[in-house]
Amino acid sequence: MVSIFEIQSVTKSFGEFTAIKDVSLDLPEGKVTSLIGPSGCGKSTLLKLMLGLEQADQGSVRFRDSEVCDLDLEKFRQKIGYVIQTGGLFPHYTARENIILMAQYLGWPANEIDMRLEELINLTSFPVGGLDKFSGELSGGQRQRVALMRALMLKPDVLFLDEPLGALDTIIRHDLQTDLKQIFSKLNMTVVLVTHDMAEAVYLADHLVLMSEGGIVQQGKLADMVHKPADPFVTRFLTAQRHINDMLEQAK
Ligand SMILES: Nc1ncnc2c1ncn2[C@@H]1O[C@H](COP(=O)(O)OP(=O)(O)OP(=O)(O)O)[C@@H](O)[C@H]1O
Ligand SMILES: [Mg+2]
Repeated sequence: MVSIFEIQSVTKSFGEFTAIKDVSLDLPEGKVTSLIGPSGCGKSTLLKLMLGLEQADQGSVRFRDSEVCDLDLEKFRQKIGYVIQTGGLFPHYTARENIILMAQYLGWPANEIDMRLEELINLTSFPVGGLDKFSGELSGGQRQRVALMRALMLKPDVLFLDEPLGALDTIIRHDLQTDLKQIFSKLNMTVVLVTHDMAEAVYLADHLVLMSEGGIVQQGKLADMVHKPADPFVTRFLTAQRHINDMLEQAK
């Protein structure tokens, strides 16, 4: 299997605190990988290391055979769609302006921008009327669709979603999970989805990576984690999830 990102023995500290401890991980191309784990275990930091937004103290982070720290970061970042944990829409721009900002900056012709925007609206089932609203005038679910469209605007090779559904109520979250699953299968691209919800990870991802305290505890399928836990933490994490019964059914 071809890996799009290869992380080898990476360590990252902030002052005295080691946020990422000797992590190695390959991201398979064209698959959805989910980073799961409790708050503070290092999920967002690992994404930032892959994006070149943080630099590893030790180890190597490679994107398609190049060290990320050697790349032209501006060009590299255009290949990665990134929805940050807080959504990160510019409040003084409309939804449309948020989505097309980078394409405009890069000088895309207006007709190409319009065509891409239409594709994205169809993909995310976003109401056309919402495009001229400011982010404060959109619902939480609509804001996340706008953040997703913005991340996809430049047709990136990889999509990083950091807890994209974390702040949504259960029903909106459920609907967006269903839509995301369809979107992932239509796009057929490499996706990294950060979540602390195991049921969401199982539903949306091909490959699960469970983290704890800056390290990877176990990766693979849910069935392995249920039947062959690598550490007592795995079982503790699984049983602490509310949807455990659904998951156990799927693991059979
Ligand atoms: N820039 C920073 N400076 C200092 N400490 C940081 C910084 N970024 C992250 N940390 C610390 O590193 C640890 C991992 O943070 P990270 O944001 O990666 O966790 P997370 O798994 O994404 O958590 P959450 O689920 O709450 O988003 C935390 O203890 C956090 O406080
Ligand atoms: Mg985080």
